[in-house]
Amino acid sequence: MARRTKVYEGKAKVLYEGPEPGTLVQYFKDDATAFNAEKRAVIDGKGVLNNRLSEFFMSGLNAIGVPTHFIRRINMREQLIRAVEIIPLEVVVRNVAAGSLSKRLGIEEGTALPRPIVEFYYKDDALGDPLVSEEHVIAFGWASQQDLDDMVQLALRVNDFLSGVMLGVGIKLVDFKIEIGRIWENDFQRLIIADEISPDSCRLWDMRTGEKLDKDVFRRDLGNLADAYTEVAKRLGVLPSNGKVMTRPTLIN
Ligand SMILES: Nc1ncnc2c1ncn2[C@@H]1O[C@H](COP(=O)(O)OP(=O)(O)OP(=O)(O)O)[C@@H](O)[C@H]1O
Ligand SMILES: [Mg+2]
Repeated sequence: MARRTKVYEGKAKVLYEGPEPGTLVQYFKDDATAFNAEKRAVIDGKGVLNNRLSEFFMSGLNAIGVPTHFIRRINMREQLIRAVEIIPLEVVVRNVAAGSLSKRLGIEEGTALPRPIVEFYYKDDALGDPLVSEEHVIAFGWASQQDLDDMVQLALRVNDFLSGVMLGVGIKLVDFKIEIGRIWENDFQRLIIADEISPDSCRLWDMRTGEKLDKDVFRRDLGNLADAYTEVAKRLGVLPSNGKVMTRPTLIN
C-alpha cells in the first residue's frame, strides 16, 4: 500500500490525506490527555472504542438529517471523513452542572440545569481553550452571526439525539463537546459536525448508580478508562457480545 501523507497529528487522532479530494482518513490513537495535556497516558484499546462509538453516533446523526463529516469506517482504528475547515470553537452543551461550570459558578455537580446551556470555547491550547461569548466570536471573525445560529441549532439537535440514545441504555448525558466545520458545495457553504463524538468528549453517568463512564474516569483517577468505554459500547450494542476489543488494526471488509 502506498504510504499516506499525514496532514495533522493531534493528541488523540491523526489525520491522513484521503483517497479522494475533499476526504481525510481519521486514525484514533490510544493516547489520553487531560488538563490541557498536563496529564497523559496510553490506554490500550481506547482508539478502537472511540472509532466505533464515534461511527455509531455520527452515522445515527446522518440518518436523522444532522449532517456530519462521517462517511464510513475503514478498519478498527480508521474512518473516512469529509475534510472541513474547522471553526476554531469548541461547542459545549450542558444538561447537568459538572466540571468547569460547577467550578466557575459554584453550582454543585449533578444539579439539573433549567434548560440546555450552549457554550463556546476558543480552540487555543496555549490559552487553555478559554470560554468566549458570541460577541467575541463575531468581533474576532471566528464565525458569523448566521454561523453561530446554525451552530446552536446543530448542537441542540445533537443534544436531543444523544440524550435520547443514552437514555435508552440507562445513561445520563450530562454534557458534551463538538467541533463544527465548513464545507463548500458549489458557491454555498454549509456547517457540519466534525471531529469525534465519544466518551472522550462527553460526560456520561450511569442513571442508576451515578457511576462515571467517560474521560472523568481518567481525569479523576476513578478506575480503568477502557472498561468504562467498553461498558458504553456494550450497552449501545456496538461491540461483539463477548466484549472483546481487537486493538490491532484489522480490515473489516
Ligand atoms: N473533518 C475534519 N476536517 C478537518 N479537520 C478535522 C476534521 N475533524 C476533526 N478535525 C481536526 O483534526 C484534529 C483531530 O486531532 P485531535 O483531536 O487529536 O487534536 P487535538 O490534539 O485535540 O488538537 P486540536 O486542539 O487541534 O483539536 C483536530 O485539530 C480537529 O479539529
Ligand atoms: Mg481533539
